[in-house]
Amino acid sequence: MTIEKAHRKDYLEIAALDRIVWLDYPNGENIADGEHTWRHWVEDAIVRLWRQDGRIAGVALAFPTIARGFCLHKVFVEQSARGQGAGRQLLQRLLDDPQLKSAPCYLTVNPANHTALALYREFGFEAGEVVQGYYRQNEPRLEMWRKAKT
Ligand SMILES: CC(C)(COP(=O)(O)OP(=O)(O)OC[C@H]1O[C@@H](n2cnc3c(N)ncnc32)[C@H](O)[C@@H]1OP(=O)(O)O)[C@@H](O)C(=O)NCCC(=O)NCCS
Repeated sequence: MTIEKAHRKDYLEIAALDRIVWLDYPNGENIADGEHTWRHWVEDAIVRLWRQDGRIAGVALAFPTIARGFCLHKVFVEQSARGQGAGRQLLQRLLDDPQLKSAPCYLTVNPANHTALALYREFGFEAGEVVQGYYRQNEPRLEMWRKAKT
């Protein structure tokens, strides 16, 4: 399984996948980042992608913040390609980035998303506070933190 760095040519395809991968989530239509944002992400953040048969089927993204180290903003795999190890590989390659290794990293996750939670724990993220009403009422998010490794 090959995980690649994302480039400018990839941003429209990534944005298209982002628009559909969350649709089975409650309020999932609100989760996608726009094309303009993805253009910035591929140029200015750390974005790794997985291709299956030439098509982008999974993406992981982290960006640096002013006060809190890196934010692991997103990891997603196309519905039909889940459970093949891509999510784990994407996180491995993302978190292996030397800049990410040398800084703390945080994320927020739906506390009911047990698949993602288990993966994040595997990569050294520790649970912090559950923020109630993070987006809307009944949409809590769990904050997770990972210490710098180097
Ligand atoms: C979370 C996600 C990225 C994982 O990607 P994936 O490619 O399916 O994950 P992997 O195949 O690498 O599996 C990693 C672990 O996840 C768990 N897992 C994977 N598919 C699962 C499923 N259908 N049900 C339960 N656990 C599952 C397993 O514990 C697996 O570990 P194992 O190999 O020891 O069994 C993917 O499910 C996804 O895109 N979900 C929607 C987007 C999302 O929720 N992202 C995180 C939001 S913060």
